[in-house]
Amino acid sequence: MRIGFFMLAAFVAAVAGSPSFRNMLVLEQRSDVPVGFTKGTPAPAANVLDLRLAIKQNDMAGLEKALFDVSTPGSALYGQHLTKEEVEAFVTPAPESISLIQEWLVANDITAKTISPAGDWIQFSIPVSQANTLLEADFTIFNHDETGTQLTRTLAYSIPATLQESSSNLESRAVPASCNTVVTPACLQALYGIPTTPATQSTNKLGVSGFLDQFANQADLARFLKSFRPDLASTTTFALQTLDGGANTQTPADAGDEANLDTQYTVGIATGVPVTFISVGNKVKDGNLGGFLDIINFLLGEAAPPQVLTTSYGQNEDTISSALAVQLCNAYMQLGARGVSILFASGDGGVAGSQTTTCSKSFLPTFPSGCPFMTSVGATTGNTETAATFSSGGFSNIFARPSYQTANVATFLTALGKTNAGKFNTTGRGFPDVSAQGENVQIVVDTKTGSVAGTSCSSPIFASVISLLNDRLIAAGKSPLGFLNPFLYSAAGAAALNDITTAHRYCFRGDNPGCGTNGFPARAGWDPVTGLGTPNFSKLLTAVGL
Ligand SMILES: *[C@@H]1O[C@H](CO)[C@@H](O)[C@H](O)[C@H]1NC(C)=O
Ligand SMILES: *[C@@H]1O[C@H](CO)[C@@H](O)[C@H](O)[C@H]1NC(C)=O
Repeated sequence: MRIGFFMLAAFVAAVAGSPSFRNMLVLEQRSDVPVGFTKGTPAPAANVLDLRLAIKQNDMAGLEKALFDVSTPGSALYGQHLTKEEVEAFVTPAPESISLIQEWLVANDITAKTISPAGDWIQFSIPVSQANTLLEADFTIFNHDETGTQLTRTLAYSIPATLQESSSNLESRAVPASCNTVVTPACLQALYGIPTTPATQSTNKLGVSGFLDQFANQADLARFLKSFRPDLASTTTFALQTLDGGANTQTPADAGDEANLDTQYTVGIATGVPVTFISVGNKVKDGNLGGFLDIINFLLGEAAPPQVLTTSYGQNEDTISSALAVQLCNAYMQLGARGVSILFASGDGGVAGSQTTTCSKSFLPTFPSGCPFMTSVGATTGNTETAATFSSGGFSNIFARPSYQTANVATFLTALGKTNAGKFNTTGRGFPDVSAQGENVQIVVDTKTGSVAGTSCSSPIFASVISLLNDRLIAAGKSPLGFLNPFLYSAAGAAALNDITTAHRYCFRGDNPGCGTNGFPARAGWDPVTGLGTPNFSKLLTAVGL
């Protein structure tokens, strides 16, 4: 028996030049010619146009507040006007906006120059023919009736959908429409309100488990950061620890999808948090457990283990004896007591186990998600988040329901009624506990950018959020969160999560189907598809007392 990793096989290499600029959206249009003008002939193709583009400013709401603070008599900051740098800090567009627009311009052989101090305006000159194509426009000569002045204008123009959030005045931090189909760090930052500013506490560490000779490639990480976190140094990397003869071979072809995903979505999301890739080799000392116990014992042996550990591997619960399962779960209890948050992907087979397994009788819970001393992470998809249908969830046949989730699970079971009766253990520990995005996630493997799916994506993302919360807690002189579930299931914790109540149905019926059933439904409150829901960083900050 071997542990497997939780990632659907799909690795679809993306079209070169990562974000798609194909979907065009109309940015501005008018149906009629302004009064006093007459529409003339099409503008000559070779005429050169000077175009200006406003890039969405970083934080105009913040600047507005600052303006009122310094301008309102009686305010504590009255008269304390801002410096040039302070104003520019509010205005300068987010690096991701700038780099996205740069990428678009470069792809079209256009060189632009910045024409405002904060960099929120750029200018470029291109011929009419190129402008018509680039902007799906129809530049035309308009004659001013009274003066005879001729102006070159278009009644409508479009820009790529991926750029709209960067270049128009839409709501601050609106989630780009492209995130419905292409999930990048910028999407997760917008969707969950995850800060892009670097963490500050060097003692705050995030551990990423590696098994099965899955190697995390440094050059791929650098490429990933260059494409998707251009605001970070592309040299930002992870530390390495090895046990059981583990390695981290850097031959490009040896890069593992799982290992690259897990390192790219920790280094790339938990900005500034020191990440350690812990590579467990094949000389395991724990036999059937494939290194799962070895890595925990290894960390228990450290004076300062990472405060968060994310693992995207697992197996079906029925492949492991109860006695061994309890032993391993007890090891998690120890590490939790040391203040470590242990997160695992819940699995990718819906109610049918870790992968799509054939099962006809009972549902197959996954391991170690049934252990009550870890946090199991399921998957969601889309900008209006719904459950991902592969998201494993259910009830353990080994571990009884822990008290922290009694009320939530009871509510779910009451609502469920007789559905799936006899197919699952009504007294078992329910999982997952929480969820995060798990489809269309962009990673770089062996130099190529592609899409992956699976709860494998969700665990490192959620773990990164926890690490960033720990950074703030440690900076404030407080303890890191440690074992998460009692907090997550508390009223304050649950209220800080986005409750996911529906599933995305393709051709499937049901929310996490399997074993010839529709699986369990996602619904209001906890459910065994998406748990309590996905993170809202600012609400979590409040919930942890910051
Ligand atoms: C988080 O919750 C707050 C308060 O309800 C809300 O205003 C904010 O938009 C949410 N953040 C995100 C990124 O959804
Ligand atoms: C159901 O789960 C309990 C633990 O809550 C366990 O003791 C029992 O053996 C399980 N039943 C089956 C049929 O697996």
